[in-house]
Amino acid sequence: MVQKSIIRGFSKFSLEEKLKVVEGFFEDASGVGETLRSFFHGDPNIQKILSELSENTLSNYPLPYNVAPNFLINNTVYMVPMVTEESSVVAAASAAASFWAARGGFKARILGTQKIGQVHFLFSDDHQKLEAASAEIIGFLQKRVAPIAANMVKRGGGITGMEIRNRSQLIENYFQLHLTFETVDAMGANFINSVLEECSRGLGDFFQQKPGFAENAFEPVMSILSNHVPECLVEIKVGCPVDELKNIAPGVSGGEFARRFVLAVEIAEKDIHRAATHNKGIMNGVDAVIIATGNDFRAIEAGAHAFAAKDGRYTSLSHAKVENGQFEFTLTMPMALGTTGGLTRLHPLADLSLKMLGNPSAKELMMIAAAAGMANNFAAVRSLTTTGIQAGHMRMHLPNILTQLGATPAERDKTMTYFRDQTISFQKVEDYLKSIREEG
Ligand code: MEV
Repeated sequence: MVQKSIIRGFSKFSLEEKLKVVEGFFEDASGVGETLRSFFHGDPNIQKILSELSENTLSNYPLPYNVAPNFLINNTVYMVPMVTEESSVVAAASAAASFWAARGGFKARILGTQKIGQVHFLFSDDHQKLEAASAEIIGFLQKRVAPIAANMVKRGGGITGMEIRNRSQLIENYFQLHLTFETVDAMGANFINSVLEECSRGLGDFFQQKPGFAENAFEPVMSILSNHVPECLVEIKVGCPVDELKNIAPGVSGGEFARRFVLAVEIAEKDIHRAATHNKGIMNGVDAVIIATGNDFRAIEAGAHAFAAKDGRYTSLSHAKVENGQFEFTLTMPMALGTTGGLTRLHPLADLSLKMLGNPSAKELMMIAAAAGMANNFAAVRSLTTTGIQAGHMRMHLPNILTQLGATPAERDKTMTYFRDQTISFQKVEDYLKSIREEG
């Protein structure tokens, strides 16, 4: 057996050499290589694309690629691709999409598309001198980064704002060069970070060339985009007369359903424990679309949770009310994504997803992902305030339990039929399987 030890130069090893080392980390490595190889793509060109996305790729990790039909958004019907492993997410999104399609669909609008980046630096000379020179510094930097921004400007975007912010009340001598960007249909991370790093070098040159500043007064700390994008926002709404919500759960009137739904959302607005879970339900839908379209779901998650806490207290991203007999449910959230560049066209399934959506602009994709978030949020709160989520959840999870318990096709059929009107738990399924196996 290969010893577990610190390895130098691992990334330079061949795939076979890497596998040998990795096998040394298993108690029993038999079958490890076969399992990993079995998930390689049959087409070497596609595998090459996938392997080149990351370092030390040993295999692929498949997740289900699903679709949710009937998303009516601003009078257009979409078939929405969703990559998720959580069994109830697509079913919930589809059910909510159909429900709202029959009531006018989702009404979406973009409230802004501004992206943000910052150069963080220390300035240890007189702060007033820096502030007095700030207009000149900004003019100097704008000229400096113009060649980098030229292509983006051609596409209708570019740098939309640049200012120096004094943050020395937080950390001694701490300043930021705060930039805003329009990146049109690109997520724009590489563009933004390239501009920021050039700005940082430019700041260094400015203070070196300009007389009157103490030597080494400027110390660059870091240059990076911000995932807090409170002005890259999408708003999505559904609504209907309260009466049209009747029978959403057996025997529950529209008014009673709406009252309980609004109360549940108010709890999420006021209690952080509930808010985190409520927002997780939104992200179930959003992330699934973000992954399916090759966007960066960590960026979207970070932005969503920062936005939920922007007023100093973490709260719900969605809101609900009843006014004049009308139920209204709204979700407003940041969504910095792209439909060109990055993985969006490189990953064959991301490309296919975008084509399925009719090659949307970034703005359109913001609305689609938010609609998926709202659909999942609506479905979750609807279940929570009526039947509870476990019944539906466990029903969707039953096939996984049966696989885990090694059920044969005949046992699966019998068990699925039996549990159609029974409460499902792992233990109950295991006991039932045991009983039918004993019966023979
Ligand atoms: C589970 O993935 C998501 C829910 O917990 C969301 C919610 O509680 O609103 C059901």
